[in-house]
Amino acid sequence: MRINRIKLVNFRNYSNVSVSFNKKMNIFIGDNAQGKTNILESIVILALTKSHRVGNNPNIIKFDKNKCKISGVVKNNKIVTKLSIEVDTLGKKVMVNSTNIKKLADYISYLNVIVFTPDDLEIVKSSPNVRRNLLNIQLSQISEEYIKIYNEYNKLLKTRNEYLKVLFENNIADKAYLDIITDKLIEKAIFIYQKRKEYIDLVNVYINKYYKSITGTDGIIVRYVPNIILEDYDYESIRKKLKHTFKKNYLKELNYGMTIFGPHRDDFYFEYKGNDLKFYGSQGQQKLAILSFKLAEISIFKEFTRTSPVLLLDDIFSELDVKKRNKLLKIINEDDIQSIITTTDLRNINKKYIEDAYLFKVSNGIIERK
Ligand SMILES: Nc1ncnc2c1ncn2[C@@H]1O[C@H](COP(=O)(O)OP(=O)(O)O)[C@@H](O)[C@H]1O
Ligand SMILES: [Mg+2]
Repeated sequence: MRINRIKLVNFRNYSNVSVSFNKKMNIFIGDNAQGKTNILESIVILALTKSHRVGNNPNIIKFDKNKCKISGVVKNNKIVTKLSIEVDTLGKKVMVNSTNIKKLADYISYLNVIVFTPDDLEIVKSSPNVRRNLLNIQLSQISEEYIKIYNEYNKLLKTRNEYLKVLFENNIADKAYLDIITDKLIEKAIFIYQKRKEYIDLVNVYINKYYKSITGTDGIIVRYVPNIILEDYDYESIRKKLKHTFKKNYLKELNYGMTIFGPHRDDFYFEYKGNDLKFYGSQGQQKLAILSFKLAEISIFKEFTRTSPVLLLDDIFSELDVKKRNKLLKIINEDDIQSIITTTDLRNINKKYIEDAYLFKVSNGIIERK
């Protein structure tokens, strides 16, 4: 899968620009605040209909304008598709080959991206919901069944939480209805636990390989931490464990008025030589673990979909020493993948890894191919 072209009209600091991409490596070079991240952001929006940048400056429409448009041409398995997203003060219009799209699920498979930004350090540092989100996004990209079951789980969870409150407030002794909901919830929970475990096992097939080829040392593992202790992940073991946990903690859940066990409270962490990277790793190690995690994600994605997502790397070199920059570029260059990279400079970059790349100069909302 790749993106051939993009056109931005009144998007952030761009009035009107078009870019044709190389099918392999693309590098955008420019000083700070020139529009490098904005370019990557526009590609993310074209892929997912929303930005990956949380919080800071949600207004993507160029100052003093009232409408913006991102359009692009993507190619997947020889099929060329025109995508566009128009945003104005009233909302968003999403189009595929000039046809309006209403359902997000009908849109997001045209362009898959994997983004790595300096903010991703949060994945190690932040609360579990950040990591769960990431896991959900990754699993959703490779399994429609996962999206379906995960949504069903959340609906049941809401129903169950509401009913726990009803039971508590009304002092109803009959909990037959709760048991019915609980059994249904357990069915969905088993599936989610199994899929997440399977996914993390797959991540571990690749992550250390990437970590080692960039850093020269190995020992990185991702540890899944389901919110109940599971030794075995077969259907019956998880079912028994969950049933037992819910039974044992009925009064506790009643008091809290919510479901406190289940995959909605899962977590995972990065382990390096036996320690949790969150507490024992340097910032550099943490970043490289996340980067390796995302590279592993690409390999898994390829395994499942037989196509490759587009890799977006924002300001990556500033995070890495010279040796690691070149190692990373070597890996990307050898892989059959389209990459779009931003950087302030190409100092100490080995020319042989970028000789086929398209280089673009970004300055104050203007993009020129070098
Ligand atoms: N809605 C907007 N309209 C116009 N300019 C914007 C808008 N949002 C951000 N900018 C400008 O974009 C620039 C930052 O671009 P960015 O891509 O983040 O820079 P960098 O090259 O450092 O990655 C800043 O100059 C900022 O003022
Ligand atoms: Mg930037």
